[in-house]
Order: sequence, then structure tokens, then C-alpha cells
Amino acid sequence: MDFRLTHTDSRSNARAGLITTDHGEIATPVFMPVGTAGTVKAVHIRDVDEDVKARIILGNTYHLYLRPGLDILREAGGLHKFNGWKKPILTDSGGYQVYSLTDRRKMKEEGVVFQSHIDGSKHMFSPERVMDIQRIIGADIIMAFDECTPYPCDYNYAVKSMELTHRWLDRCIARFNETEDLYGYRQTLFPIVQGSVYKDLRIRSAEKIASCNAGGNAIGGLAVGEPVETMYEFTELVCSILPHDKPRYLMGVGTPVNILEGISQGVDMFDCVMPTRNGRNGMIFTSQGIINLKNEKWKADFSPLDPEGTSFVDSAYSRAYVRHLFVAGEILGPMIASQHNIAFYLWLVDEARRKIEAGTFSTWKDEMVKRLGQRI
Ligand code: GUN
Repeated sequence: MDFRLTHTDSRSNARAGLITTDHGEIATPVFMPVGTAGTVKAVHIRDVDEDVKARIILGNTYHLYLRPGLDILREAGGLHKFNGWKKPILTDSGGYQVYSLTDRRKMKEEGVVFQSHIDGSKHMFSPERVMDIQRIIGADIIMAFDECTPYPCDYNYAVKSMELTHRWLDRCIARFNETEDLYGYRQTLFPIVQGSVYKDLRIRSAEKIASCNAGGNAIGGLAVGEPVETMYEFTELVCSILPHDKPRYLMGVGTPVNILEGISQGVDMFDCVMPTRNGRNGMIFTSQGIINLKNEKWKADFSPLDPEGTSFVDSAYSRAYVRHLFVAGEILGPMIASQHNIAFYLWLVDEARRKIEAGTFSTWKDEMVKRLGQRI
């Protein structure tokens, strides 16, 4: 994997760049639709590619390991062959999923013993095992095995957890370096900064991660319930320490406004379940603001779903029709809303990139932040 910065904004820390992988190029800033179980929920792979114009999608180690399981993934020739997505894939390590299984897991120095949320069966994830699993899944970018600390988190726990994440990172790197890709294309390992909401810990963690000289670096442990200003403050702090010439990935973030603020602090990559999860519940993000399609207000509104939207669903369907689909419990409602939302997120990061290139990012961002946060 290679990364080249093409533009930097003079009035903020925003940057535009180009990641090159063996499955093609990824222009940044980029939003990565979440495909936990190897599918971007409710959207066909052809539409994720050609209509939404996603450049990279996410998969999850925890979910894919449990279902369909490693034998099937290996036999298929990796996740790309299994789900038909020909562009880059990134897999999260399972550190976040295992962390959310609070009463079904036991953390040890060696790794985590956890119970499957599907059938209660017992499993063990160690840094070495998670590297081996991600070799079998075969994503282009794979994540280190970390512990995502909850919020709030007391200082002593945050120190212990961060130090464990750092020891696990050394083990991940060692295993990654002594194993090889299985399917003939290169994989890149991203380490993850932790340290909760403590300045000294975030600085220590960012310095440790920077010293690994990885192909790209991630910021974890944010967007877990802390105030949004705290998230921005720590994103900025960590970005000021991470290498300038490597992509920076802010994990699990966020709303359209969060993404614009992240870009302005120097983040290049984002992922979030929000566009698909909220879409399935009838919430759509548009350039005029947020719409709840289930609202009575749209009952006889025959205008396009989003007049400025870039997806075919935006002009093909009216708000009244998609509202009807939701009210009637029709499966097409969640499909249309999911497709619209991820196309909107991709439009947003593409527009940010164009503004960075044109030197007008900051004024555009301030205007968009005012518009995007409001409910209409
Ligand atoms: N997704 C969102 N936050 C995190 C994190 O801290 N760690 C991992 N592995 N995934 C995440």
C-alpha cells in the first residue's frame, strides 16, 4: 500500500490524498460503508460500486470468523471472491465487537475469551489469532487487535488498557511480519491509538503508534459516548503526533458534521454504521438537513427524495412514496434509504476533497456544518 498527499488546506489541517492498493486506488478523504458480515446491509454490491461509488468497504473479523467461518472464506479464496467486491476492503480486528460483549468476555494478557452472540459457543482471540484470521479473510487493510476503552473510564484502567493494547500491537506486528498474504495481493496492518480521554495517555499512545512506521494509522476509543467537543479535541491532538505522510483513520465516526470536523483536523478515512443503520429506520441525511421519512409531514410530498442527491434512488423515488414503503413495512424502504445515505456520505467526502483542492474547504465546511445538523 502506498499513500501520497496531493493537497493540504492552508486554513485547516484538511488534506487530500491517494491510497494505492493492489485492488485499486482510494482518493481521500474517504468514507467506507460498513459491511460487517461481508454485505453493506440492504444494498447490492453493484450499487455500492457503480451508484454509490464507494471506493473501499469494511468487513468485521469477529462476525466473519463466526459466520460463514474460516473454512468457507479460505475455500472461497478470501472475502473479495466470496462477496464479489473487486475494490479494496478493510477489516476491523474485532477489538471493538469483543469490547461490546461486556458480560460475555474475559480479558487476559494472552487475549480475550468470549462467547459467541449467535450460539453461546466459547472462542479465544489473541493478537496472533486475529492476524491469522485477517490473513484468511484477505482484506487489503487489516487492523491491530486492541481494547476499545468505554466512556467514562477511570485513569488507572485507561493506563492498563492502553499498555495492554501496545503489548498486543507488538505481538500483532511480529505475527504479521512472519506470515504472508494467502491470495497473491498485499495486505497492510494499521495500528490503533487508544488512551481514553486522558491527554498524557493519548500523547503516549500516539507516539508509540507513530514509532511503528506502519502504512497507515488509526484513532480508536472515540465516539463511545464522550462529549463531541472532547472527541474533536483528542482527534486534533492525536493527528498532530501521527505521521503526516501516512493515512489517518478515525474509527466509527460519525455524523456528517463529525466527518467534516474530522477532515478539518487532518483525518483521511472514516467508517460508521449510521448511514445504513439509521437509513433502515427511515432517517435520511440530505444536503438540506436530516429527514425522518416516517414523519406525517412527507405523506403527500411528491418531490424527489433528495433533489441534489447523486444516487439513482434520489430522482427515481419521491419522499411520499418512500414514506409509504416505511409505513407499510415494505423491505424496499430500508433498501432505498440505505443506498441514498451511503451515496450522500460519499458525496460529502468527495465534495470536501474538491473544496480542499480548490482551496475553499474552510468556508464551505462552516456553511455545511450549519445546514447538515438541522432536522427538516
Ligand atoms: N471501531 C470504533 N472504535 C474502535 C476501536 O477503538 N477499536 C476498534 N478495533 N474498532 C473500533
